[in-house]
Amino acid sequence: MIEILSPGQLAQARVSGALVADILTSLRDRVRVGTNLLEVDGWTRSMIEDAGATSCYVDYAPSFGRGPFGHYICTAVNDAVLHGRPHDYALADGDLLTLDLAVSTGGIAADSAISFLVGSARPAGSAELIDATERALAAGIAAARPGARIGDLSHAIGTVLTAAGYAINMEFGGHGIGSAMHQDPHVANNGRPGRGYKLRPGLLLALEPWVMADTDRLITDADGWTLRSATGSRTAHSEHTIAITDDGAEILTQSRRPS
Ligand code: MF3
Ligand code: CO
Repeated sequence: MIEILSPGQLAQARVSGALVADILTSLRDRVRVGTNLLEVDGWTRSMIEDAGATSCYVDYAPSFGRGPFGHYICTAVNDAVLHGRPHDYALADGDLLTLDLAVSTGGIAADSAISFLVGSARPAGSAELIDATERALAAGIAAARPGARIGDLSHAIGTVLTAAGYAINMEFGGHGIGSAMHQDPHVANNGRPGRGYKLRPGLLLALEPWVMADTDRLITDADGWTLRSATGSRTAHSEHTIAITDDGAEILTQSRRPS
């Protein structure tokens, strides 16, 4: 089912989106060399609870994971890229960390992910991975407006990732969002312009380009959740929830503080 939000639901989506952005920004500010991923999960839980919001993750048990996720945020380090399950690991200087968070307030969800380097070390190739996913996300958002089709967004995202030299995995991509975190339509990270569902005002989409440095193949970690690059190479992921408006798209999970 494709959900078109009412003006009231869209107002609620803005509240959820701002909360997701605020939590990700404070986590990014707080993470240091030596921070444990389980601390990040605990901080996230506190911020969600203090806001009176609901985690979209803790009880989530989709077919692509083993049982309920059981945590409040996805933490993916280096070769881990999607659904990174927080575990007992202290971050090291130069680790490439992805934080992916979805919460719901008043029954409407928002979803966003950021990738950044921990500490001051700058390992070769890492900034380029992050930059490619951020530019692909911006291109996808720029293509989003009423009348555009899902394939236009997929094509815009895929063009940037391909030009940056990355092979694109088509198993996981963006998605509709609203009353539930994962809804139709699927937004692949590559595709053909002019194809697919035609966007309408009130549609909420989570766009989420992600890449692995030298492969398009994923392997599943022994934890049954965390997806890693098959070669052990580094990865990055950027995601925003956007609302299709009368004249374009509004980013609901934009941080209000510079990063
Ligand atoms: N928020 C992720 C996405 O971008 C989904 C995470 S599901 C979880 O679509 F269970 F791993 F948390
Ligand atoms: Co998502």
